[in-house]
Amino acid sequence: MTMQTEVADDMKMTTQTSQSLLWDHVDSRPVVADEEVADRNTIVQLDPDHPGFRDQEYRARRNQIAQLAMNYLPGDAIPDAPYTREEHQVWRTIWTALQPAHQRHACAEYLASLKRLSFAPDRIPQLREVNEKVQAISGFRLEPVAGLVQPRVFLENLANGVFLCTQYIRHHSTPLYTPEPDVVHEIIGHGVTLASERLAQLNRLFGEAVRRATQPEALEQLSRVYWFTIEFGVLHEDSQVKAYGTGLLSSAGELEEMQEAELRPLDLNAISHQQYDPTHYQPVLFCAESFEGMYQTLRDYLMSW
Ligand SMILES: [Fe+2]
Repeated sequence: MTMQTEVADDMKMTTQTSQSLLWDHVDSRPVVADEEVADRNTIVQLDPDHPGFRDQEYRARRNQIAQLAMNYLPGDAIPDAPYTREEHQVWRTIWTALQPAHQRHACAEYLASLKRLSFAPDRIPQLREVNEKVQAISGFRLEPVAGLVQPRVFLENLANGVFLCTQYIRHHSTPLYTPEPDVVHEIIGHGVTLASERLAQLNRLFGEAVRRATQPEALEQLSRVYWFTIEFGVLHEDSQVKAYGTGLLSSAGELEEMQEAELRPLDLNAISHQQYDPTHYQPVLFCAESFEGMYQTLRDYLMSW
């Protein structure tokens, strides 16, 4: 996503094509959402190399789930997504792979939150169910979006305690790979961390900082800091490197690969200028000395904006 680096260029492109280019907060692939598309069923556009590109049934369900979000109005009861047995199986496969990876690589704050949410291993939880627990803990709620949203929209919503969240799940042919953030990333990554009061507070502070940051460069800097902390942050705990970033914690592959990354000290000024490629495992990660140190440093940084 180059939510951080290519906003200006992409905005230019938007103007040129008179279409809305939307980015997810994690993934770099722009998706064209043309308001004039007569048939709303074409709203979810997948790349030809997407694992579900040739699966008409999957694409129809993606559209159906996107439609739920498009009909959703903030404050409404969140509609349940109609997952198939096959899709629940995808969740089960991922859950099975993640459980041991979490025990080895997740920080204590995350593991405590995961326990509080107590997911069933054999079915995808509905956002409605996750919200019941998360809201009681931190006041945050997950609200459905059809797919990709502008970085500023995504980040500013955090100030209101709203996490904009996709509901679809990746294609069943590749349960351990997804080219875009899906409900697994949203719930096992963000949903769980928002059940930590301190991580939820940091998300909220990101939203407030972005609201105050009116210049495109400031948005890009905050987006990079969000990426290397909330999405891909690691820290020292019990003489080991542990993850608190949602992109790591929602992927067994990322959790294993983080051992290979070059670790740099948590320097938010350096991070705010650090480029990244969201389509590969991250070769560089920024490591805090402790959870407490990360929390204090990031909180002070965000409040200074
Ligand atoms: Fe994310």
